[in-house]
Amino acid sequence: MQLDGKVALIVGAGQTSGDGIGNGRATALAFAREGARLMLASRSTGSLEETRDMVRAEGFEAEMIAADITDMDACHAMVKATTDAYGRVDVMHNNAAVGSHEGDSANIDPGQWREVMDINLNGAVFASKAVLPAMRAQNSGCITHVGSIAAVASYPIIAYKASKAALNEFTRWLAFENAKYNIRCNVLQLGLMDTPLAIEGYHRASGTDRGVLREQRAAQVPMGRMGTAWEAASAAVFLASDAASYVSGAILPVDGAIATRIG
Ligand SMILES: NC(=O)c1ccc[n+]([C@@H]2O[C@H](COP(=O)([O-])OP(=O)(O)OC[C@H]3O[C@@H](n4cnc5c(N)ncnc54)[C@H](O)[C@@H]3O)[C@@H](O)[C@H]2O)c1
Repeated sequence: MQLDGKVALIVGAGQTSGDGIGNGRATALAFAREGARLMLASRSTGSLEETRDMVRAEGFEAEMIAADITDMDACHAMVKATTDAYGRVDVMHNNAAVGSHEGDSANIDPGQWREVMDINLNGAVFASKAVLPAMRAQNSGCITHVGSIAAVASYPIIAYKASKAALNEFTRWLAFENAKYNIRCNVLQLGLMDTPLAIEGYHRASGTDRGVLREQRAAQVPMGRMGTAWEAASAAVFLASDAASYVSGAILPVDGAIATRIG
């Protein structure tokens, strides 16, 4: 029970519709199985309810709140809901993000650019700002933002890439500034994962057959396969646990060695 007694706020705990399990939902289940009590947050409630019900069906504790992290008041509300329900907040795991599909820098849509930055970067900043007072008052805490290999690799998804690159540096600063409060801050930098977000998202955007997409993605990975949401979740458990008590400011790749292709 690596998270026994801990209270975790998981942001982006619903998931994109489609086959299989997403990183947020798998992380919620993995955290609960390791003993954490959960507050689940997301902007879309239907899928969030499904995650909560799956956690409860296994006999674990989970509450939920609808919160759009681009809204500062909503970020304060999700933190308050956590401390009201459980009296503290030990972990904030922020999985919320959306993809982008520009493909060409001359093709950037200003509206989509702003939306991606607003959710993937501003949302992470606002959620962190909201949770820090409670963690500082406790003199302990852990914030994990879910990043992407897109931050450092050459992918034609510019808004997404820029948002995740900025998220890395924001998180490193967060770790530096909050170390004196015993708050650890890290990025879980995921590679090509087989989740509904990735497969359905690209299928809808490009029309490419799902099977072909899976083969194309697997072929890019030195391990020869995409990762699973459960592999993202087990690394998230590690970062949230006391086993990672001296890990802060890390950009942890969970990517089947794909980052070794860079530099
Ligand atoms: N699947 C991959 O190949 C891959 C690769 C690298 C990184 N990632 C990262 O993994 C994370 C998502 O993985 P997933 O499979 O759980 O995706 P998902 O789309 O299934 O889940 C994302 C969740 O974030 C929520 N969300 C979106 N905007 C929000 C907002 N404004 N406020 C609150 N919640 C919001 C959605 O409602 C959803 O519940 C993202 O951070 C993504 O960048 C995924």
